[in-house]
Amino acid sequence: MNNADNDRSVVALVPAAGRGVRLGANAPKAFVEVGGTPMVRLAVDGLIASGAVDRIIVMVPPESVESAVALLSHSAVRDIVRIVVGGAERTDSVRAGIAAAPEASYYLVHDAARALTPPGLIADVVAQLRAGHPAVVPALPVVDTVKSVDALGTVTGTPDRATLRAIQTPQGFEAGLLRTAYAADVHATDDAGLVELLGAPVRTIAGDPLAFKITTRLDLMLAETILSRHAAERPEIVRTS
Ligand code: CTP
Ligand code: MG
Repeated sequence: MNNADNDRSVVALVPAAGRGVRLGANAPKAFVEVGGTPMVRLAVDGLIASGAVDRIIVMVPPESVESAVALLSHSAVRDIVRIVVGGAERTDSVRAGIAAAPEASYYLVHDAARALTPPGLIADVVAQLRAGHPAVVPALPVVDTVKSVDALGTVTGTPDRATLRAIQTPQGFEAGLLRTAYAADVHATDDAGLVELLGAPVRTIAGDPLAFKITTRLDLMLAETILSRHAAERPEIVRTS
């Protein structure tokens, strides 16, 4: 995946160290299979298929390092992927990934749990980064009405839905910007949120429904159905060996 025309390297950081409490499986979520392939493997193969990524750092639970190495040792990824131990919170895992790839010019942070993300979306984020935007996130319109509530559950407001977006990954950043955002002792579920605190502009691009995060059993059923129906037309999102 060398970008011969551009020596500014793109390193994907793949948080895969979560426990998957809401999914309730017996294994860490990233190692749960969708259509016979663990999510982390699907996510990494999607990054490779984008043709836009030079290196990939995968952050996993300490007890899953060996299985991750075995899952990610196929020829397409062997020389590109490195496995590191993640942390107790997603923020800690991303911080570990940043530390493992100090040479990056750009970071893409991409959840293993977004296992069906189309490679084209990944390439779109990188293209916007290379075009000079320091922070780029995929966004979808919000379909439900969203309300804010107080501690008792009483509605306190209804923001205009037209101004709201649901944010996905991969989220792309100028490397220095993400390093600065993570230099402080911060915690967030969204990397762009940390960058916003620094006052940097965050650009949204059109997201893709297939980049949904597999969080619950219902999400897993949806992902299984999509994979089984589209395996023929979408070979890049099924097993590659
Ligand atoms: N993640 C991580 N390190 C953590 C927590 C989460 O690398 N300490 C990763 C997950 O593996 C996942 C992504 O961040 O790929 C998004 O997190 P989430 O969907 O919340 O996954 P889990 O934390 O595993 O799920 P749950 O919150 O239900 O336990
Ligand atoms: Mg979580």
